[in-house]
Amino acid sequence: MTKMIHSYWAYIVLIILIFAIVNAIIGLNSKKEFAAKDLKISLFALIASHIQLVIGFIAYYMSDFYLTMRSAGMGEVMKNSDLRKILVEHPLVGIIAITLITIGFSKHKKKATSTEKFKTIAVFYGIALILILSRIPWSQWFSM
Ligand code: HEM
Ligand code: HEM
Repeated sequence: MTKMIHSYWAYIVLIILIFAIVNAIIGLNSKKEFAAKDLKISLFALIASHIQLVIGFIAYYMSDFYLTMRSAGMGEVMKNSDLRKILVEHPLVGIIAITLITIGFSKHKKKATSTEKFKTIAVFYGIALILILSRIPWSQWFSM
């Protein structure tokens, strides 16, 4: 159940995140004023990713993979690339990515100019997106 919410919420996270990045790049290139709308888009992406973090933690401890880790041990998890991806790489890189989004959001608020604000969002959210995409269990997602 939590797994299902996590895998559907993933679409929302990815769509809003991509939208926020594209919006920041457009704002940067067109030298627009960083408006209330731009703050909202960045904030929605932050909130969506924080919610995914919480759902992810619940999914983690409720998953069969977690039981396997408890019974087989961490050594077996590290040796098996599927288990390692779900139990180690995906969560760890996900947490790092969401941390970058949070730092980017915090930093953009303190920047004085619109250009700097757009740039901060584009860079931090952009790196976060690449990290997230690199560690999604794609084959499992599309076979659900
Ligand atoms: C494991 C759970 C979570 C952790 C560890 C976490 C962590 C954080 C951290 C470190 C900040 C930055 C504070 C700052 O320096 O400005 C933050 C901000 C924020 N988080 Fe979370 N969060 C979590 C869950 C959530 C959830 C579930 C929501 C929404 C439903 C949420 C919404 C927000 C919002 C709106 C901000 C403030 C952005 C701002 O205006 O600065 N977070 N969170
Ligand atoms: C950064 C944003 C994240 C995105 C976009 C994301 C997306 C996904 C997707 C698409 C799947 C595959 C779902 C399926 O097989 O149907 C998945 C699985 C999973 N994710 Fe995430 N995730 C994120 C962060 C996290 C975090 C931070 C954690 C843990 C703290 C986590 C824990 C898990 C677990 C445990 C599974 C496997 C669930 C199972 O098969 O039982 N995810 N995630």
